[in-house]
Amino acid sequence: MDYFEVVQQRHSVRSYKPDPVEPEKLQRILECARLAPTAANRQAYKVVVVATEGNKAILQHIYRNAWFVQAPYLLCVCSVPGKCWVRNDKKNYSDVDAGIVMDHMILAATALGLGTCWVAAFDVDAARAILKLDDAWEPIVFTPLGYPNDNTFKKVRKPLEETVIYTGLDLGDYQMTAKKQAQLQKEAIRSSLGRVPLLRKIRNTLLRDG
Ligand SMILES: Cc1cc2nc3c(=O)[nH]c(=O)nc-3n(C[C@H](O)[C@H](O)[C@H](O)COP(=O)(O)O)c2cc1C
Repeated sequence: MDYFEVVQQRHSVRSYKPDPVEPEKLQRILECARLAPTAANRQAYKVVVVATEGNKAILQHIYRNAWFVQAPYLLCVCSVPGKCWVRNDKKNYSDVDAGIVMDHMILAATALGLGTCWVAAFDVDAARAILKLDDAWEPIVFTPLGYPNDNTFKKVRKPLEETVIYTGLDLGDYQMTAKKQAQLQKEAIRSSLGRVPLLRKIRNTLLRDG
């Protein structure tokens, strides 16, 4: 399956066979998570692999639909927001990082003939307690991982005209404020200092010692 077929084939699977998932396949999927990009390459996430066998009743507290525990595995992507990259307007990119990691795994699973379904409407408290998650981790999304038991699926999507905007001819005006200019200059100096090893050391020492 090439990439375009994988994207076409991926769909939310809400019925799974009990067939086991080969360990090599699971490993390849996890390797795709490892290769996923994250903002500033922080890699501040955890993938929790949960075996459902023998744990189905308790796992149903996390998400009540029966199909959630039908597959042999659940994958949960947790971000570690305290360690993720934060833009200078304070936007934390932890959710984006976690989404990319999960999407890498989900597309890999599709390429390997496995089914998945993004699940965000889960009970966070139950997930934290049952999976014994570290307080610093935030569970973002789950998916079951197993062989699909559905033969058909339908993609219901808006036409491209509703979601894509081509622009370039009629762009808005933008005048940078003096405050913003000063801030950018400060950031440029800071990052160029950071590239010189000795200065970086001095800067780090100064920052550390206040
Ligand atoms: C971030 C995210 C969260 C989702 N959460 C749920 C969920 O909690 N339960 C569920 O049944 N489907 C969930 N879905 C699946 C969507 O409903 C589904 O992807 C969408 O309807 C498109 O259908 P498709 O995946 O078959 O292409 C979620 C999807 C995304 C991307």
